[in-house]
Amino acid sequence: MIADVVSITGPRPLRGRRRVPGDKGMSHRALLFGAFAGGETVLTGLGPGDDVARTRDALSSLGVAITGDGDRATVSGRGIDALHAPDTAIDCGNSGTTMRMLAGVVAGRPFPTVLTGDESLVARPMARVVNPLRAMGAEIEAAEGGRAPLVIRGQPLTGRRIALEQASGQVKTAVVLAGLQARGTTEVVEPAPSRDHTERMLVALDAPLQRIDDRTVRVTQGRPRPFELELPGDPSSAAFLVVAAAITPGSDLVLEHVLLNPGRIEFVEVLRRMGATIEVEPREERLGEPVGTISVRAAPLHGERVACHEPIIDEVPALAVAAAFADGVTEFHDGAELRVKESDRIGSVLELVTALGVGAEPRADGLVVRGGTPQPATFRSHGDHRIALAAAVAANAAPGTSTVEGWSAVAVSYPRFLDELEAIVAER
Ligand code: S3P
Repeated sequence: MIADVVSITGPRPLRGRRRVPGDKGMSHRALLFGAFAGGETVLTGLGPGDDVARTRDALSSLGVAITGDGDRATVSGRGIDALHAPDTAIDCGNSGTTMRMLAGVVAGRPFPTVLTGDESLVARPMARVVNPLRAMGAEIEAAEGGRAPLVIRGQPLTGRRIALEQASGQVKTAVVLAGLQARGTTEVVEPAPSRDHTERMLVALDAPLQRIDDRTVRVTQGRPRPFELELPGDPSSAAFLVVAAAITPGSDLVLEHVLLNPGRIEFVEVLRRMGATIEVEPREERLGEPVGTISVRAAPLHGERVACHEPIIDEVPALAVAAAFADGVTEFHDGAELRVKESDRIGSVLELVTALGVGAEPRADGLVVRGGTPQPATFRSHGDHRIALAAAVAANAAPGTSTVEGWSAVAVSYPRFLDELEAIVAER
């Protein structure tokens, strides 16, 4: 059980060498691709949160044999044709990635599937994935406003050229998974590049996918080969520890075996522009993904202008905490998507930094943070894991005792964050 209210007394420097839990985005994909493959896929170091468990359970309910405990899974893939109708609606919990990617799987299966989720997920936009899948031939009913629950009556799919309205790694992956089942050629074009794990992994797994350019992917019918993968650490989880170390004097932290996909570590560039001392060292490759270490030492930070495009969108809560501890003004712009994440992150981040006692104002597409001298506070997670984690990072750096309410939201991505933080701050 994870406590729902926690107290943290700062400031406590972070020192030593650690690993962070396996990457959430790659974990979802590894499970899904394993199910498409014909044969045994062996995964270790899977992301530990409820989100990844939702994808795993969803695949089990579709008839995929998955064994193994904790962060291990062996997926006995028998190809997409072996999937069968689930007995009940599939509950995707808080996981937008599970719902959107799974929609692309069941869109082409000859049975009905209902996808639903928690209060936050059924309020999030799904038309962005429903419309492309409908264009490929799937029959999908959505609730009012294009939201979940989604009732998907799978149909034979036809490849199309799909122009996405938003850059989205999740929707792109859904269309690719539909394209692997479709007759003909499917092409996905995005208005801007989004995270590219699907492309890197599927190319490494010999699936019929071609990257035309950084915004266009082409896919034809086929499947990946089965594989073995030790998941690298999640850079979005690492971002919280990197910010914690950057803003807490006396810190000197090395994070090992982290996924260093360039589309996932842009937060490092932002922090460097703000004055942080961070080194990134690629050491090896896993399924086309660079993996290595991130080293960070505390340094005085200053305000910057930050474009919140897709590669940085998940790190905005952590970066806003860095901005609160920085000298001067940080302006987060171009982030209207922040409104439709696990919480309205413009509102919830604004509340977090305001609680710290620094100046902040909302903007239609972001917020302005006037860095100052943050004070301990009581924070609320709004049921959003990344808001809870950002609050813990702020609490660890602020001088005195802070409280985080709604802490249990961290279950979806980083359930043991506080234990790991305690272990790191103890290593002095
Ligand atoms: C993800 C893509 C992003 C990101 C999410 C994970 C992925 O969402 O915010 O946490 O794994 O592809 P969008 O697809 O909405 O951009």
